[in-house]
Amino acid sequence: MKTLMICFSQTGNTRKIAECIEEGLLDAGAQCELKTLSEVDSASLTGYDLIGLGAPVFWYKEPFNVEDFIKALPEQNGRHWFVFCTHANVIGNFFPSVTEKLNKKGAKVIGFHHSYADLTVPFYPKPSYTSGHPDEIDFEEAKAFGRNIVITHEQVLQNGDALIPEPGPVSSGEWIEESKTMTREKVSQMLPKFTINLDTCTQCRLCEDNCPVGGIDIDARPPRIQDPCIYCWRCVTICPTLSVEADWDPLVAMAPANYARYKKELNKVAARGEFRWLIDPESIDLNDPLYKQWQRDLKDGGKK
Ligand SMILES: Cc1cc2nc3c(=O)[nH]c(=O)nc-3n(C[C@H](O)[C@H](O)[C@H](O)COP(=O)(O)O)c2cc1C
Repeated sequence: MKTLMICFSQTGNTRKIAECIEEGLLDAGAQCELKTLSEVDSASLTGYDLIGLGAPVFWYKEPFNVEDFIKALPEQNGRHWFVFCTHANVIGNFFPSVTEKLNKKGAKVIGFHHSYADLTVPFYPKPSYTSGHPDEIDFEEAKAFGRNIVITHEQVLQNGDALIPEPGPVSSGEWIEESKTMTREKVSQMLPKFTINLDTCTQCRLCEDNCPVGGIDIDARPPRIQDPCIYCWRCVTICPTLSVEADWDPLVAMAPANYARYKKELNKVAARGEFRWLIDPESIDLNDPLYKQWQRDLKDGGKK
């Protein structure tokens, strides 16, 4: 059985989970290739019995580049796929949203796996509510998923589609509604615009090389940035000199209200035994967002 796993990961959480699933697939006797989303040409996926697609949850659903990838897929003729993700506080509508799009391409989505993971965004603090994840227990669960999906694939082939599970888990209804409003247009309006500070930029090109959609040209004058953009902040989080600048304060101001909603959701999920708190939520200082932590570290002569 030939398997391909396609993974989009920026801060490494989804990649770690993908490697565990791969281990499980190999344990179960499948062949497996693990590729990054940018390495894969959606038009040439022939020869695989099963394809896995993994990404972080952005805006309570799949990132815009993953949406574009699925849109460009040719007809899948009933081929089996599985979908996995990592996320912080709210998984939202990720699985139904991806499944609906893959189904439209004739793919059958036969399995779902998710893991909680740390959150790295400039306007929220570190640690975050989900810091510490994914841990050893999450890794073992991902390996078990890899072993089991091989069995599910065989069972669905032999016994039919009635064995295909519903896409899930999903968050409470309010988040599902919110996920549906998160269009590119709305997200772009919600977020601050970025500029590159040429006085501090060292031309290391990490932002340019790591932008998932080629939206940066630091040689242009003024530098081109966010053109195009999937609003992932990778350019900000990766810049070692904090030269990708934005006004984060309006988002920092929203943190207390957002964190109250996140805590409510996480407590609900924890009560069902589906989330383990690894840190004390009361220990988080919402007035100390990551970008301020980075500024202090740089000022102290350390690394961001
Ligand atoms: C732009 C952006 C949007 C995000 N939106 C959500 C979200 O809606 N729900 C959530 O639980 N986590 C959200 N996260 C957190 C990521 O899903 C989480 O940190 C994930 O593990 C990152 O995966 P990676 O390390 O593979 O890039 C968001 C992170 C970023 C950068």
